[in-house]
Amino acid sequence: MKYIVTIVFLMISAVPLKAQKNVPDKILAHAKGQLEIMLTNVKGIIDTANPTLVSPRTLENDKLKVVNSRDWTSGFFPGSLWYLYELSGNKKWKAEAQKFTSYIEREKTNNNNHDLGFKVYCSFGNGYRLTKDTSYKAVIIQSAKSLVTRFNPKTGVIRSWDHNRDKWVNPVIIDNMMNLELLFEATRLTGDSSFHKIAVSHANTTMKNHFRPDFSSYHVIDYNPETGTVLKKNTHQGYGHESAWARGQAWGLYGYTLCYRYTKDVSYLHLAEKVAGFILTHPNMPEDLVPYWDFNAPNIPNEPRDASAAAVIASALYELNSYSAKKNTFVIKANKILYSLSNKYISPLGEAKGFLLLHSTGSKPSNSEVDVPLSYADYYYLEAVLRMKKLKAGKRLF
Ligand code: GLY
Repeated sequence: MKYIVTIVFLMISAVPLKAQKNVPDKILAHAKGQLEIMLTNVKGIIDTANPTLVSPRTLENDKLKVVNSRDWTSGFFPGSLWYLYELSGNKKWKAEAQKFTSYIEREKTNNNNHDLGFKVYCSFGNGYRLTKDTSYKAVIIQSAKSLVTRFNPKTGVIRSWDHNRDKWVNPVIIDNMMNLELLFEATRLTGDSSFHKIAVSHANTTMKNHFRPDFSSYHVIDYNPETGTVLKKNTHQGYGHESAWARGQAWGLYGYTLCYRYTKDVSYLHLAEKVAGFILTHPNMPEDLVPYWDFNAPNIPNEPRDASAAAVIASALYELNSYSAKKNTFVIKANKILYSLSNKYISPLGEAKGFLLLHSTGSKPSNSEVDVPLSYADYYYLEAVLRMKKLKAGKRLF
C-alpha cells in the first residue's frame, strides 16, 4: 500500500488539483484488485437461476454478508461497479455492473420504505447516466412514482419508515435527503414537475425541523400525519436524541448539496456550508477527519470510527466546493479525508473479501456492524475519487 500512501500524500499538500497526478489511478489499481476478489466471492453465493441474495453488504464474523434487493444497501455494489467502469473505461466492469444492476429492478414497485433512492439511483441511476439505456430510464421513473406514494401533503414530507409504529407514526430520517436525487432526476427525465415539487417540499420541511441552532441534525423527526406538527425529535442509530450521529450529519451535508445542484436555491447551499462547518470544526473531529460514529459518543477517543461517514462527507465536499464562494476550503478537506481513507482505512490488497475500506460503523446502539467494512463506504469512496479525478482534469462534476 506504500504507493497509495505516498501518492495520496502529494494530493493533500498540493491543493491545485492539476498538480495531483495519478492519484486516482493508484487508488484505481487497488479498487480493481479488490472488486475482482469481491466478484469471485459473491458469484460463489448467488444462485443465478433464482437470484435472491444479490449484493454484498459487510463482513459478519469474517464472512461475507450478501443481502437481497429489498435491503437498503442493495444498490451500492452495482453502483461501485459502475464507478469502476467510469474510472477505468474497461467494458468488463460495465458488463458486471449491468448484471448486478438487473438484480435490483424488482425494487421499482416496492414502496415499503423510503430507500428507493439508495437502491435504484445508485444502481440504475448511474447505469442510465453512463449508458442512456432507455430500459434503465423506465426503472428510474417507476421507482420515483413508487417513492412519492409515501409523500403526505399534510406533513410536507416523505415518510421514511413503517416499522416501530409503537414509537413513531410518521418518522422522517435525515438519511431521506439522499433519496431526493431520484425525484429530481425523474422530473428531468419526464418533464413532470410533481416529483421535483415533492423533493423541494421534503427538503424545506426537513430544513425547518431537523436542524439545531449549531447546524447539527436530529436523526428521526416524527410528524403528526394529520397536522404536520412535530411530535418527537429522536435518534435511532446515534448515541442520544440530542447527539450528532456522524453518518446523519454526512447525509444532511450531501443531501442539501444535491438539492442546490437541482434547484439553485441558495438557502440549500448556505445550509450545506453550515453543516460542513459543524462537521469540520467540531472539537471531537479527529485530526485525520474520519469521524467517530457519533460526534458526542461518550468515550471519545476510545470509540469506533465511521469511515462510511467520512467517504460521504468527502464526496459531498467536492461537489459543495464547486458551488461555494469559499473557494478551495472544502476541496482541501475532501482531499485530506481521501488521504486518510486511502492510507489508514484501506483494506490491504487481497483481504476483507474484496471490500475497499475497513473501520465503518453501521449501528453502534444495536451493536450491529461496528468497525467493519460496509458497501456504502466503498461506494461513496469511489464516488469521491471520481469527483476528485474530474476536478483535477478541470471537468465539471454535473
Ligand atoms: N440509511 C441507513 C444508515 O445510514 O445506516
